[in-house]
Amino acid sequence: MTALQIRRALPSDAPGIVEVLKSVVAERIHSAIDQVWTVDQEARYLESLSHREVLHVAVDVTADIVGFQSLDLWSSLLPSMAHVGQVGTFLLPAWRGQGVGRQLWSATASFAREAGYRKLAIQVRASNAPAGRFYRALGFKECGRLTRQVIIDGVEDDEVLMEFFC
Ligand SMILES: CC(C)(COP(=O)(O)OP(=O)(O)OC[C@H]1O[C@@H](n2cnc3c(N)ncnc32)[C@H](O)[C@@H]1OP(=O)(O)O)[C@@H](O)C(=O)NCCC(=O)NCCS
Repeated sequence: MTALQIRRALPSDAPGIVEVLKSVVAERIHSAIDQVWTVDQEARYLESLSHREVLHVAVDVTADIVGFQSLDLWSSLLPSMAHVGQVGTFLLPAWRGQGVGRQLWSATASFAREAGYRKLAIQVRASNAPAGRFYRALGFKECGRLTRQVIIDGVEDDEVLMEFFC
């Protein structure tokens, strides 16, 4: 396992978070996100998080952000779904497969329990089998599929729904 600091993101982390997203989005194959927010948009998002939402960053010895995991409410509008959160995880290519995702998950899962979530859900592109395996290793189970939900560069992809009970 790689020695990294896992900590809660501050709005001042927006540039590093945007750099990670730019790298993942440029690969075009992992996420339904196909456009990256500006640093200002990302900073405003971080400032807007409620007390039950969080973004954890993984920071290396040179203080660079190498990855992050977000936890947002599934719906900010429906009290009936206040027990459901949604998760997203993104790492720079060089940091994958070294336990960083699991370290982020440890911080997120403990935050989720303390914040009163009962379940977490994610949507994973069907073509992103490695991410499906990652979330399965964390305990998520497949529970549905949205067909032809994503079109990036003219290529259709399904999204697989996965859920985890806290
Ligand atoms: C998917 C991603 C977040 C996983 O993070 P990671 O740091 O590489 O994963 P870890 O090394 O912490 O692995 C955690 C567990 O998942 C499993 N896992 C991770 N990647 C895997 C893969 N490609 N194949 C099989 N299992 C995998 C590991 O075996 C490990 O299981 P264990 O702890 O029981 O041994 C990371 O690779 C990534 O950022 N990928 C690109 C972006 C992406 O696809 N994000 C998800 C969008 S929905």
